Amino acid sequence: MTHTPPAPRRGWVSRWTFILAATGSAVGLGNIWKFPYITGENGGGAFVLVYLACILLVGIPVMMAEILLGRAGRRNPIDSMRTLAASSGAHPLWRLIGISGVLAGLMILSFYSVIAGWALDYIPRTASGSLAGANAAAVAEAFAGLQADGHSQLVWHTAFIAMTVIIIAFGVSRGIGGTARTLMPVLFALLLLLLGYSLAYGDFEHAVRFLFAADFSRLSAGAVLVALGHAFFTLSLGMGAIMAYGAYMPPQASIAGTALIIAVLDTAVALVAGLAIFPLVFAHQLAPAAGPGLMFVTLPIAFADMTGGLYIGTAFFLLLSIAALTSAISLLEPGVAWLSERGRLGRLPASLLLGGIAWLGGIACIHSGTVFNILDFTATNLLLPAGGLLIALFAGWCLRPSLLQAELGDLSPGLSRIWRLLVRVIAPLGVGLVLLSSTGALNGLRIWLTGAVT
Ligand code: TRP
Repeated sequence: MTHTPPAPRRGWVSRWTFILAATGSAVGLGNIWKFPYITGENGGGAFVLVYLACILLVGIPVMMAEILLGRAGRRNPIDSMRTLAASSGAHPLWRLIGISGVLAGLMILSFYSVIAGWALDYIPRTASGSLAGANAAAVAEAFAGLQADGHSQLVWHTAFIAMTVIIIAFGVSRGIGGTARTLMPVLFALLLLLLGYSLAYGDFEHAVRFLFAADFSRLSAGAVLVALGHAFFTLSLGMGAIMAYGAYMPPQASIAGTALIIAVLDTAVALVAGLAIFPLVFAHQLAPAAGPGLMFVTLPIAFADMTGGLYIGTAFFLLLSIAALTSAISLLEPGVAWLSERGRLGRLPASLLLGGIAWLGGIACIHSGTVFNILDFTATNLLLPAGGLLIALFAGWCLRPSLLQAELGDLSPGLSRIWRLLVRVIAPLGVGLVLLSSTGALNGLRIWLTGAVT
C-alpha cells in the first residue's frame, strides 16, 4: 500500500479534556427533553432498565469502536477510514462511513441549530420578565409567535451557527477543548441548581413515580427500539463525531475506561434533567408534553408562575443553549477536520464553508416544517444507524488484529472477547433492527410473517 503513515497529531493535552469534550457532544438537546419524556411514556423504570442495557451492550462498545478507529487512524473520519481500510486490506469503500458522517453532521446541525436558536431566544425573553405571570394561553401564544416569526428565528439561528463556527475555527485544543473545559462545569452547576430548586419546591415524588416506577406492561417491542435508537443518538454515535474526537485522544489513555465515564456522565445528566424538569411540571398540574412543547411551553408556564421563576427559567434556557452548543461543535468537527487536513483550506475557511451550508439548511428548516422533518428523519433514523452498523462491523471483523491489540491492550482477555462479541454480533443486530424499523421494513416483515403463519 502506498499510504504514508499518518502524522502524529497534537492531542487534547489531557484525558479529562477529551472526556469533557466528548461528554459535551453527548449531552445535548436529546438528554434534556427527549430522554425524560420517552422514559415517562414507555413505562418509567422498566424503560430505564432497557435503556441502560442498550447503553451497556450497544452504546459503550460502539463508542469504544469509534474512539479506537479515530485514534488508530489519527485523522478525520474519512481519511482515518481510508488508511485503516488500506492497512487492514479491506475495501476502500469503507471510507463511506466518514462521508455519510460528514453529511449526517451537516443535516443534524441544520435543524439542531434552529432549536438551539429558540433556546437562545428564550434566555432574554425569560430574563426580561416578559413571560412572568403569563397564563398558559399567553405562553403558548408566545411560542407560536416565535415559530411564525422567520426573522427572529433567523437571527438566533445565525448567532448559534456563528458561535459554533468561531469555536471550531479556534481549533481543537483552544476551541473545542477550551469550550468544553469552560462550559461543561457551568452546565453541571446549572443542572444541580435546577435539581435543588425542584427538590425544594417541586412535586418530586410524582416525578420519581413518573420516571422510575417500573411498569413492564407499557414496555412494548417498539419501546425497546426507541431505547436503542436513543442510546445511539444521545452518545453521539454513528457519524464519526466521536471518531473525529478520538483522533485527538492521548495515546496512553484507556479507551474502555474513558467510554464508560462518558456514558455514565451522559446518562446521569439525562436522569437528573428528568428529576429537575418533571417536579416543576407536576407541581403546576401540567401534562408532560413531548418535545419542543415541553421545553418552550410547558416549562415556561411553570416558570411564569413560580417564585424565582425568572432566575430558574433563565438558568434553564442557558443550560439548554450550552448543552446544544457543545454538541453542535462535534457535528461540524468531522467535516472541518477533513477539509483542513486535505490542506486545501485552513480551519477558518473550512468552518465558514461547512457552517454556511448548515446555516442554509437551517434557513430551509425555519421556512418549511417538511424540510425540518426530512433532515431529522434521514440523518437520525437512517444515516446514524447505518453508520453505526458499519462502524461496529468494520471494527469487529475487518480491523487488523495488531491495531486492535495496540488500542485495546489494557483490556483483560475476557473483556476483550466480550467486546468482540458485542461489536461483531450484538450491536450490528440491534442497530440493524432499528434501521429496519425506521425504513418500515420491520413492519413489512412482521405482516409477511404473520401472513405466512396464519
Ligand atoms: N448527542 C447529542 C444529543 O443528545 C446530539 C449529537 C451531537 C449527536 N453530536 C452527535 C447525535 C453526533 C448523533 C451523532 O442531543
